[in-house]
Amino acid sequence: MLPPILSNLRIPVVASPMFIVSGPDLVIAQCKAGIVGSFPALNARESDGEAPLLDAWLTRIAEELDRHNQANPDRPAAPFAVNQIVHRSNARLERDIEICHRHKVPIWITSLGARVEVNQAAHDCGGIALHDVINNVFARKAIEKGADGLIAVAAGAGGHAGPQSPFALVQEIRDWFDGPLLLSGAIATGRAVLAAQAMGADLAYIGSPFIATEEANAPADYKRMITESGAMDIVTSSLFTGVSGNYLAPSIRAAGMDPDNLETADASAMNFGGGSSKAKAWSQIWGSGQGIGAVRDIVPAATRIDRLACEYAAAKAAICG
Ligand SMILES: Cc1cc2nc3c(=O)[nH]c(=O)nc-3n(C[C@H](O)[C@H](O)[C@H](O)COP(=O)(O)O)c2cc1C
Repeated sequence: MLPPILSNLRIPVVASPMFIVSGPDLVIAQCKAGIVGSFPALNARESDGEAPLLDAWLTRIAEELDRHNQANPDRPAAPFAVNQIVHRSNARLERDIEICHRHKVPIWITSLGARVEVNQAAHDCGGIALHDVINNVFARKAIEKGADGLIAVAAGAGGHAGPQSPFALVQEIRDWFDGPLLLSGAIATGRAVLAAQAMGADLAYIGSPFIATEEANAPADYKRMITESGAMDIVTSSLFTGVSGNYLAPSIRAAGMDPDNLETADASAMNFGGGSSKAKAWSQIWGSGQGIGAVRDIVPAATRIDRLACEYAAAKAAICG
């Protein structure tokens, strides 16, 4: 059963949070176009001594979505989500939880660690918590710690992808879990959204196709590289953050490395607090999932979502009759 907050979307899609790439412009465009938009709290970076930018972002998102809803009562905006990186290197976690709690963030997405107190904070302000997992063991732990739903991150996903086939991952989780289940990894068309549902997921979780949008906070060359690349251009490596992730081979070449001969890294190098290895990973070495063969132009996010909605309806009519 889906909670009401995830039930009334235009299409069953949550736009995934992307380090550096997702900010208020993209989130507002995604929500106005009818899918859940999201961003990592860590993207809101301020200099020492400045007021928290996360506070300002959340105020702006709430105000703009409210204005949209008042002007368009017949097609209200979808709710938004904030991603918390629950890893020991995230020194801001406590502060960011307090800010999100104060703003009554409706959907909390947690990654790289499941913690009871984060889920409690989400529930306490009326929200729901979704935790991303790469296998069934982590999935059980996340539910034990109070998450309401799961995001199955399968092989081929952008960022820190899992190694498992989406068929295997969804099948094992659905065997015991009947709550909200999202599937991520190389989903880039409406047909693939329907396939995720046919497999047993409730919603698709889509990231990389939104890098090639006007609202994404990404350099023009990164956006263009997404539109010119396909699955064969995606390299899996743990070198850049200490955790296995998927990256665009041309960006690795541009940084002077050979994408076919990368070393592996020590997991202790992992850093999500703004350390140099992470900064280099996402600002020079560009992340992407394998599904980008379907992305051939840079468009407003609303256009990408309109296309997904048309493709989803057509696939449903063709397959389900
Ligand atoms: C450039 C990039 C940055 C990402 N950063 C984050 C992040 O900060 N937090 C997070 O939970 N997931 C992050 N992800 C993973 C996405 O949330 C999601 O699992 C993935 O995009 C889904 O696969 P897809 O890109 O093939 O659609 C990132 C993905 C990409 C491509």
